[in-house]
Amino acid sequence: MCGIVGYIGNNDCSDILLDGLTKLEYRGYDSAGIALLNKGIITRYRANGKLRNLKKVIYSVKNVEGSIGIAHTRWATHGIPSEKNAHPHNSENFVIVHNGIIENYRELKSFMIENGTKISSDTDSEMIVHLIEYYYKKNLNFENAVIKTIKKLEGAYAVLVISKLEEKLIAFKKDSPMIIGLSDEGTYVASDVPAILSYTNKFIYLNDGDLVIITKSDMKITDFELSPKEYNIKTLNISPLMAEKGEYKHFMLKEINEQSRSVADTFRGRILKGGDELDLDISNLDSFIKNDLQKIVITACGTSWHSGLIGKYLIESIARIPVEVDYASEYRYRNPILDKNTLVIPISQSGETADTLAAVKMAKKEDSKILSICNVFNSSIPRESDAVLYTYAGPEIGVASTKAFTTQMSVILLLALYFKKVKTSVLDKKILEGALLLPENINKILKTSEYIFTLSQKYHLYSDFLYLGRGLNFPIALEGALKLKEISYIHAEAYPAGEMKHGPIALIDENMPTFIIVTDGNNYDKVLSNLQEIKARKGKVIAIATEGNKEIKDFCDDVIFVPKTLNLLEPFLNVIPMQLFSYFVADIKGTDVDQPRNLAKSVTVE
Ligand code: G6P
Repeated sequence: MCGIVGYIGNNDCSDILLDGLTKLEYRGYDSAGIALLNKGIITRYRANGKLRNLKKVIYSVKNVEGSIGIAHTRWATHGIPSEKNAHPHNSENFVIVHNGIIENYRELKSFMIENGTKISSDTDSEMIVHLIEYYYKKNLNFENAVIKTIKKLEGAYAVLVISKLEEKLIAFKKDSPMIIGLSDEGTYVASDVPAILSYTNKFIYLNDGDLVIITKSDMKITDFELSPKEYNIKTLNISPLMAEKGEYKHFMLKEINEQSRSVADTFRGRILKGGDELDLDISNLDSFIKNDLQKIVITACGTSWHSGLIGKYLIESIARIPVEVDYASEYRYRNPILDKNTLVIPISQSGETADTLAAVKMAKKEDSKILSICNVFNSSIPRESDAVLYTYAGPEIGVASTKAFTTQMSVILLLALYFKKVKTSVLDKKILEGALLLPENINKILKTSEYIFTLSQKYHLYSDFLYLGRGLNFPIALEGALKLKEISYIHAEAYPAGEMKHGPIALIDENMPTFIIVTDGNNYDKVLSNLQEIKARKGKVIAIATEGNKEIKDFCDDVIFVPKTLNLLEPFLNVIPMQLFSYFVADIKGTDVDQPRNLAKSVTVE
């Protein structure tokens, strides 16, 4: 779950590496480091804490030079965040950075200690560099020492290695993401595209089992036996600006404000002729959907799991196909019933979440079909899938997911309609027409930001919140509570409003405000009764209600109005005020909104 960047080429690369790390900081940010090779000498700079600490160290040194270098931003798994545990790790002749987990590191550590190696960190990663050194000293060359080391590694890894003995960078990967960027100025390696998007738009997406040997004049991709492998170069048309903060204080605020655009982009080219046609470009699955599909399993983690819950409501109510939704970390270990009549839909912003990827691999073994929903082009989950529906959110940098969530829901809505169309030849044009109005309605809510800010000022000192919603709005309550706790560290929990009487009502008093979704659809009267039960117990209530509702003000402390839409489309609008409220509360409290403590954007370890 760390970020790695490497460069070999014509230029001094400390700025390239630091710039790349800045773009990757969402992957891990508890310590960072770089190593530069210059005229046979490798210099290493490392610092505990945020990347700015590493930058301070580097800017305080003169003559930081090197046109070959590797860099790392860490999210600790083995060993506390500290300078000694920060990457790069070194041995006498080699230096490495690693993203992933070496599962057999204890065994490797004992082996190295028996061989007289001094271990300097508490990390699993350090063993990689010592093994390379060990095999090198057994008279193997650089490449072969790496190959021999790979054979000893168990777990997940994306690794970059440099040596003071040769002007070369070696990269290899298994179960952790890594891409190569090509330009006339040099060759770049990184965990993710935004890290190097300012330098090139030509990328090679590495596969598991790829080893890359790069010199200043040449690049070879081989397997772990050094046999050459073929590769494709892809040209991406994403502007680097899409990954920049622009006028906004935080990426999260920028990303919340982009949702009108990103939802429209996700519908573009799919909803055609004003809602008269729907084209998802997955016709390779039509015969399966029509003749074989009996059950759908949605599997995901975090916010993506919440859009999976929405998916269950939408697919079951629109297409009448049974849907199970599971946390990927549970699904992969619970011996689920899968077969060739099951369609598994993994949902993942990053396409790299370890548990979701493992669930996909498991389902493939059982011959189930995989249709993934993903935001990152050509990432690992899409590559394991029979078909992919991309969300066009653009790079999401803030750790708390916002625009990825609404675009995931957008794709799932279209998918539910598509399933129905393929099975029954009926297209629900009214829903498509309603969907086309969502971007405009999202914009209307974004324009109420100032009012939501005043509510955040009023409520930011409370330490516990309850979130309630019913039907399709229950997953939105879950997402609202998750947003608040992730970035403001305020305890928040969500319940289906009808379940409140079975426990959570005991918590209600004037110190625990409730956020309740009481929009027009989804059992309005019943949710209104729940709301009154809270007021009767002196609970403070913030309600999300539909514009034009004249009575609601009498029942609650504060109301946020959202535009009227079809019942099935309410989640798209109701989540926006919750995202804004959480953002403003966190900002008022002064937390690190884009990189909240203990979290990471892309969880590539179990
Ligand atoms: C992490 C992120 C969440 C995200 C979850 C799943 O926990 O902080 O924002 O929802 O991973 O990530 P994915 O990339 O698979 O959607």
